[in-house]
Order: sequence, then C-alpha cells, then structure tokens
Amino acid sequence: MERLDKVLSNLGYGSRKEIKLLMKNGEVEVDGEVIKDSSIKVDPEKSIIKVSGEEINYREYIYIMMNKPAGVVSATFDNYDETVVDLLDYEDSVFNPFPVGRLDKDTEGLLLITNDGVLNHRLTSPKWHVDKLYYADIDKPLGEEDIKAFEKGIVLDDGYKCLPAKLEIISSSEDGSEVKVTIQEGKYHQVKRMFESLEKNVIYLKRMRMGNLILDENLDLGEYRELSEKELLELKDMLEMG
Ligand code: URA
Repeated sequence: MERLDKVLSNLGYGSRKEIKLLMKNGEVEVDGEVIKDSSIKVDPEKSIIKVSGEEINYREYIYIMMNKPAGVVSATFDNYDETVVDLLDYEDSVFNPFPVGRLDKDTEGLLLITNDGVLNHRLTSPKWHVDKLYYADIDKPLGEEDIKAFEKGIVLDDGYKCLPAKLEIISSSEDGSEVKVTIQEGKYHQVKRMFESLEKNVIYLKRMRMGNLILDENLDLGEYRELSEKELLELKDMLEMG
C-alpha cells in the first residue's frame, strides 16, 4: 500500500501540494468514491484510480528505447552537457529513469533508459554475456588478420585482454572500412580502444542491438519510445527475470 498523493505525484500529476488541491476539489476517485484525504493509502495495482474522470495508468517501471544522438551524455545529470534524460518528456522523466550502461558522447544508437535496477544490473554485468552489436566506420582498411585478432581477444592499452569478439567487414578500401562489431563487455571506450590496439581509429559508432533488443529503425536520432510488451518480455526472458 502506498500513499495516494505519492502514487499520483510519481505519475506526474503534480507536486504533493498540487495533488492535495486536486483532491480537495473532488477530482480524485478511488474505486468509485471521491477521496479528499491525500494521505490515504491505496494499492495502485488493484484499485481503480481516476483523476478528473480519467483512469490512471499505474506502473512502477518504465522502459524506454532511445536512438541516442551524438552530443548528449549518457547520464542523468551533467554540469556542462545535455543528458539523455533531458531529452525525455516530463511524464517519462517523473519515473526517474537512468541509462543502462554508457554510450560515449559522440556515439549514437540504441540506449535503454529505465528505473528497473535489476534489469540494469543484469544487462550490464559481464556475467550475463549480453551481446552488444555496433556498426562502425573505421579510418583504414581491415582484413582477415583483424577478424582473427578480434576472435583471439584484443589486448587494450592498459593490458586488459578482451573476451573474444566478432568483427564483420561490410566493406574495406584504402579510404576506410565499414564494419559490425559484437562484444559482450562494456569497458570504457571499448570498441574505440580495440581498434586503436590495431592502430586504427573509429570515426563513427552506432549501437544497433543489445542481446535480443534491436534498435527501432523508425526512431530518428533523439527520438524514443517505450518498449513493447513483447520486447520487454523477451528481454526479461533472456535475462531470466521471469
Ligand atoms: N565502445 C566505445 O568505444 N564507445 C561506446 O560508446 C560504446 C562502446
């Protein structure tokens, strides 16, 4: 059971004070009864709560897929830069969601933003070996020896040996190459540092997939939507969150 004013303020209906006023004006109903006492406790999963005649859509968690644009940071707060959370509408940001893992400021693509701590932990923990697929443009040609180096496990500048990773070359010429890279870890700047170890540079990076969650091609940069029920079920299934 939770306080009714807390439930409503968490859903974005205003501050506690504003909600008190709404209730005083008889705008809030619980199971068909007008409630004027804002401290009353309710079970939001079971009770039918209406505000100004409209039934509220109660949930504890929010799961957002964003096509992150370059230039914003994967954080909830930053002193200098715009964050991915700044791009959310008020009714979504009231859930206090945070980005799952980090994409660099200049990296684009799939970013999950949620307030579900368990899902966050499992998706980012190396223990669960979740594949992350990136598309990248590289400044130099690549060949079979680079694919082998990724398979073997690339040693980064700090001596860390990466888990075996998959490099697929889409095109390669003297002007540069287009590739897909699949890794299971999420070390700081990992993809960029893997290529740097091979004396090549990533000039564009976009995450396309995390486990079975695929970036929706209909989302423009900076746009987002909630995960569908199917996407969420499949994601939880993969992470054994049954
Ligand atoms: N690897 C990187 O180098 N940067 C990212 O943003 C993600 C993976």
